[in-house]
Amino acid sequence: MAEGLTKEITVHSVEDTWALAAKIAAKLKPGMVLALQGDLGAGKTTFMQGLGYALGVRRPITSPTFTLSMEYPTERFLLVHFDLYRLTGPGDLLNIGYFEYLEEGAVVALEWPERAGELLPRDAVRLTFRLTGEESTRKIRIEGLSLE
Ligand SMILES: Nc1ncnc2c1ncn2[C@@H]1O[C@H](COP(=O)(O)OP(=O)(O)OP(=O)(O)O)[C@@H](O)[C@H]1O
Ligand SMILES: [Mg+2]
Repeated sequence: MAEGLTKEITVHSVEDTWALAAKIAAKLKPGMVLALQGDLGAGKTTFMQGLGYALGVRRPITSPTFTLSMEYPTERFLLVHFDLYRLTGPGDLLNIGYFEYLEEGAVVALEWPERAGELLPRDAVRLTFRLTGEESTRKIRIEGLSLE
């Protein structure tokens, strides 16, 4: 991870989260890994919906909890959304094409990246979502990506 690139943003609505996702979408490059961490219901999948929308995906993006991953072709790269909540161990990632996707230049976004253990690249962009006690407000910390 690039040192020093940490920013925390407070969003007050789903629309704000989508707007942040659109900014991040503009910075993505093939082969990047986005680690989306944070509590249940904190907004990781909602963020992915905004990210996909900004990249031109017009299919609905839902949580791939049972399939573990979903592919969304975009004009710039293949976007792959993983939800590792049900992963039993990092080794399972090998069976679901994780490294092949990265080699092929996909952008890989992972919910519950903690489950990937050592297989999470050190230079992954980390987004941490936190509930605040206010219904539509979230704090989102961004590490390893400059939005300038
Ligand atoms: N500012 C906000 N940003 C994101 N989601 C919000 C916001 N305000 C309210 N919400 C709501 O919070 C919920 C977030 O659910 P979501 O499925 O995105 O969470 P998640 O982090 O993916 O959870 P899980 O760990 O269960 O996959 C949605 O119902 C969404 O509408
Ligand atoms: Mg989710």
